[in-house]
Amino acid sequence: MLPAEVRGRIGLGSAFSRALHRRKAKLISQLECHSPFSSGSVPQRYDLTLDAAGCCYLTLLSFLNACDPGFSDRRRLTLGPSGSSLERQLSEQLDYYGSDKSSSHSYHYLYSRAFNNPERISSLLEIGIGTNNPGIVSNMTEVGRPGASLRAWQDFLPEAKIIGADIDPEILFSDGRIRCMPVDQLDLNSLTKLASSLPRQVDVIIDDGLHSTQANLHTIQALLPACAQGGWFFVEDIFPPQIDFFLALSWILDKQGIQSRLYEFNKPGAVFAISPGRSLDDFPA
Ligand SMILES: C[S@@+](CC[C@H](N)C(=O)[O-])C[C@H]1O[C@@H](n2cnc3c(N)ncnc32)[C@H](O)[C@@H]1O
Repeated sequence: MLPAEVRGRIGLGSAFSRALHRRKAKLISQLECHSPFSSGSVPQRYDLTLDAAGCCYLTLLSFLNACDPGFSDRRRLTLGPSGSSLERQLSEQLDYYGSDKSSSHSYHYLYSRAFNNPERISSLLEIGIGTNNPGIVSNMTEVGRPGASLRAWQDFLPEAKIIGADIDPEILFSDGRIRCMPVDQLDLNSLTKLASSLPRQVDVIIDDGLHSTQANLHTIQALLPACAQGGWFFVEDIFPPQIDFFLALSWILDKQGIQSRLYEFNKPGAVFAISPGRSLDDFPA
């Protein structure tokens, strides 16, 4: 890096500050609903905008808990192992194909309970096939194996049609009961197109794609209507900073008569589970 005085002399310092200023102004307009609609300098309004965006879900949730005391606690559960043979089997299948759902997250604790009659599940859609492309956000790095979880689902659910969807066209494949389709979770039209090509009602939908709240919301908005009554819609890889957002969403879904829970495990990452047409009060039994 050139010394500050040299940068100043050739104008790099001011070019950098102008670019930074433009970036801050752009962020204020992108997060318009959190920015102060009043006078003030760009740096001041930028700091206030970030602060407001950062605390909004926590604050909203405290309002929701005031309306319905204990709401968050009742919607957030920790699952340990059940020790069942299905749980062991699913963990082995996920590990065998190279998916990290069991080894890094213990999500098989939830899935083996939700799919306790694997032969009754006739369709599963998973968004996120697993790319190695380092240019794509949420890639599996070079060590991951594309299609790992889809192959594990094919083995675990003996009757199910398995549908994979991903933004990376290079990793779409067909094998046995597995078929793949392109989708971009940031594009509502692309999700609607995917929804129109699905079987009439899908028993299980899993969002293991981009993992941004915008992608999650679009996916729920476009695909929850395609989820069968008594079926499951799972959003994977939720980390502590996003938990308030999902609990607030759970409250809203509740008002539509749709129950949801946030399940945590003994490893990092939580799963938000929505179950249309079913009560989760006694789940897992
Ligand atoms: C963590 S990987 C999925 C791993 C796989 N489900 C498994 O367990 O074996 C996440 C995937 O999300 C995909 N992805 C990233 N952005 C996306 C988007 N906007 N729409 C759809 N998929 C996206 C990536 O290409 C990547 O393949």
